[in-house]
Amino acid sequence: MSSRIHSFAGYQAAYQKSVKDPEGFWDEIAQTFTWRQPWDKVLDWNFEEPRVKWFVNGKLNITENCLDRHLKTRGNKLALIWEPNDPKERFVRYTYRELHEKVCQFANVLRNNGVKKGDRVCIYMPMIPELAFSVLACARVGAVHSVIFAGFSANSMADRIKDAEASVVLTSDGLNRGAKQIPVKRVVDEALEDCPSVKKVIVVDRLGWAVKMLPGRDVYLHEELQKVEKNCEAEEMDSEDMLFILYTSGSTGKPKGVVHTCGGYMVYTDYTFRNVFQYDESDIYWCTADIGWITGHSYLLYGPLLAGATTVMFEGVPTFPDPGRFWQVIDKHSVNIFYTAPTAIRSLMAAGLDHVLSYSLDSLKVLGSVGEPINEEAWHWYHIHVGKERCPVVDTWWQTETSGIMISSLAGVTPMKPSHAGQPLPGVQPILVDQNGEEITENETEGYLCMKFPWPGIIRTTYGDHERCRLSYFSTYKNLYFTGDGARRDENGLYRIIGRVDDVINVSGHRFGTAEIENAINQNRHIVESAVVGYPHAIKGQGIYAFVICADQAPANPENLRAEVIETVVEHIGKIAKPDKIQIVSGLPKTRSGKIMRRILRKVAEGDTTNLGDTSTLLDPLVVDEIIQGAL
Ligand code: PRX
Repeated sequence: MSSRIHSFAGYQAAYQKSVKDPEGFWDEIAQTFTWRQPWDKVLDWNFEEPRVKWFVNGKLNITENCLDRHLKTRGNKLALIWEPNDPKERFVRYTYRELHEKVCQFANVLRNNGVKKGDRVCIYMPMIPELAFSVLACARVGAVHSVIFAGFSANSMADRIKDAEASVVLTSDGLNRGAKQIPVKRVVDEALEDCPSVKKVIVVDRLGWAVKMLPGRDVYLHEELQKVEKNCEAEEMDSEDMLFILYTSGSTGKPKGVVHTCGGYMVYTDYTFRNVFQYDESDIYWCTADIGWITGHSYLLYGPLLAGATTVMFEGVPTFPDPGRFWQVIDKHSVNIFYTAPTAIRSLMAAGLDHVLSYSLDSLKVLGSVGEPINEEAWHWYHIHVGKERCPVVDTWWQTETSGIMISSLAGVTPMKPSHAGQPLPGVQPILVDQNGEEITENETEGYLCMKFPWPGIIRTTYGDHERCRLSYFSTYKNLYFTGDGARRDENGLYRIIGRVDDVINVSGHRFGTAEIENAINQNRHIVESAVVGYPHAIKGQGIYAFVICADQAPANPENLRAEVIETVVEHIGKIAKPDKIQIVSGLPKTRSGKIMRRILRKVAEGDTTNLGDTSTLLDPLVVDEIIQGAL
């Protein structure tokens, strides 16, 4: 495909062109897709409102690009390989023709159940093939999918369903996760007690459980499939029609629904997929992310399918039945390109080398990392023991809001450096600014990472609240998109991402707002107030440290109280947000205006209390001594 870059000079030329003539650059790339109607204008934008439109008035359906257009030349090629949780269960493979049929049938089930263009459909499903079919089925009928990671609690699901006013939920009876089985439908039922917008629930029978089905609302997918045909005409969508909403955490309490649209998302995920991973037609590609996160959306599903690749989908976890599972799957399916998160690498590193050395891993050509900074030790381990020093490692920096990879090396083509994401992709114009928003032009400096020009995959709005989008990303620095990350540029212009500079913490590659976790903790009847900060954690990247004030100043059994607080967080957000440390305190370090000085709490959590900085503005400086003494 013409849009793949093959050399460093090719990268430089593409980059130059993308800055000099962004519209011409993306126009040419967009021509490689199937459109029902071409666009009148490539780009219409301003970062003030913000308003960003790509491929204006273009008409398309993204699933015609993921599926239909491949049928002629790749109909019998494998599109999806599904690897189950338990290696004893048989894996399943779908060719492009078979996947097309599955998606069309599912799309017909949606239409039969009243789903129309523009409706919001919430998907709460494990990593089973039906999850992939259902996402694409929504896109086929023009419904807006909102996938919720199946580890979120009923409360979290209910908040997201209400915010999106979803009319349909797609789910399963239960799910497998390592040695455990989890009752998914029961969580949905609990969430729906409080969601009047939902009229239908379509249930996939994964485990053969006899779950409760509410007459008139709940139907089984396998029964609905009996009633539909194999063909399904795709809905014609405008480039800027919504494709999906994906909720993510910000620095304020409530998660926000990041909105991406059809045309730009399609062009951007395909282009970045091909170039970053240097994808070749015969490659088997595996991204370990769950489809409940943006990485799963863009680089398990849409990007690879747009490129006509064979994508692997894994139901299980890296450590079941043992910590060799990833490497076994790579050998089993001859995976060439492998994309995972630093937290998984670190946990497998901790499990010992034997698990890796028992597999050949000969098929591997490219390794990828995503979701959080990768420390040098993990980078080298990955490069040496998994990639056998033969495979380039691409450290891909991006965000739910960017929809696709922004800063990364192109595998084997542009320079890679441990712990550095590298150079921006063509079409991406990063800028480092100081706290006044002034551009930092020199290299070997640190600053706040912003973008000065739109790329096709940029966030369009936050669902139902455009002002929130403006305030969160476009108001901190004038005419810039602010990422929330701090970064350093080295002497050669390679970027190293330092981490979040706002009240967002990144736990095992998952984003949480500190306020979001505090709100959950404060639901516990024993808790009066709390403050949450992140601290360095050997496996998770960052751990969650909570300082809590109890109604009962000295609880008789602090361990019970901690367990209860954890339970409350699990109930309100999900297991993934469980605090690692809970310190019971009698007060928090507040300024006279009532603001918590998180800087101090962060230092305590990091175990570095040598230099707490100026504490003279604190209402009660003594509280700091108590907190230091009680630190965990
Ligand atoms: O802080 C950055 C970190 O993850 C944040 C985005 O999180 P999310 O929207 O959940 O998307 C994760 C998957 C793209 C960023 O603001 N982050 C992501 N990738 C990297 C990273 N930090 C350092 N290096 C990375 N490669």
